[in-house]
Amino acid sequence: MNAERSHPFSLAIDGPAACGKSAAGRAVARRLGVRFLDTGTMYRAIAWASILHRINPTDTAALTELAESADIRLAAHADGDRLMLDGTDITDNLRLSEVDGIVSQVSAVSGVRRALVAQQRAIACRGAIVMSGRDIGTVVLPNASVKVFLTASAEVRAARRHAEMRQEQEASDYKQVLDGLRRRDRIDSKRDDSPLRQADDAVMICSDDITLEEVVIKILGLAQQC
Ligand code: DC
Repeated sequence: MNAERSHPFSLAIDGPAACGKSAAGRAVARRLGVRFLDTGTMYRAIAWASILHRINPTDTAALTELAESADIRLAAHADGDRLMLDGTDITDNLRLSEVDGIVSQVSAVSGVRRALVAQQRAIACRGAIVMSGRDIGTVVLPNASVKVFLTASAEVRAARRHAEMRQEQEASDYKQVLDGLRRRDRIDSKRDDSPLRQADDAVMICSDDITLEEVVIKILGLAQQC
């Protein structure tokens, strides 16, 4: 990691839903001693706020206004990051199935993306960071020091997510999880604005047959080369 660059160090990890990019990103950031931002939580915050304000996911003007006026703050805590929206801690609501159901639609709205991308860039300017999402290497930080495109087959991602949910004592049906992931993949990669895709200069890592720790070691190796 070169500390003398003009922009702070940034490591972009993009990939489809449930590919492990947040877990890997968080672990890499901890070992590098830098901040971590899971940008998906910001889109989830807007999706949650739209439910609270009873905004229809097709009302792009209202969603844009919501994203432009939302005060999103992320606070690092020993037991995980907390997300504050307009002064209220909404972390526990971000993974609700109601949010899962609409977040891809909400995040396809250009006005929402514009507002959140501006905030993400401002956060990256403040110091070294690992950022995960769908468009970090392509749009948010096109000059990122390191770019990773983390992927895994839909079946492997669904099996991991299903096991996680069962471990957390949440009701889960593998087929439903798989269908939900495929639906979100389709919306995230087919939308007009900043679709999910691998940046030309990103290194692809497929985690189908390797552990989280092996993914982390590969990413740390890339960070050391830059
Ligand atoms: O990573 P996640 O599943 O928590 O992301 C939630 C949604 O937000 C997902 O449908 C894609 C969208 N998203 C995005 O469009 N751009 C990002 N940088 C991060 C997430």
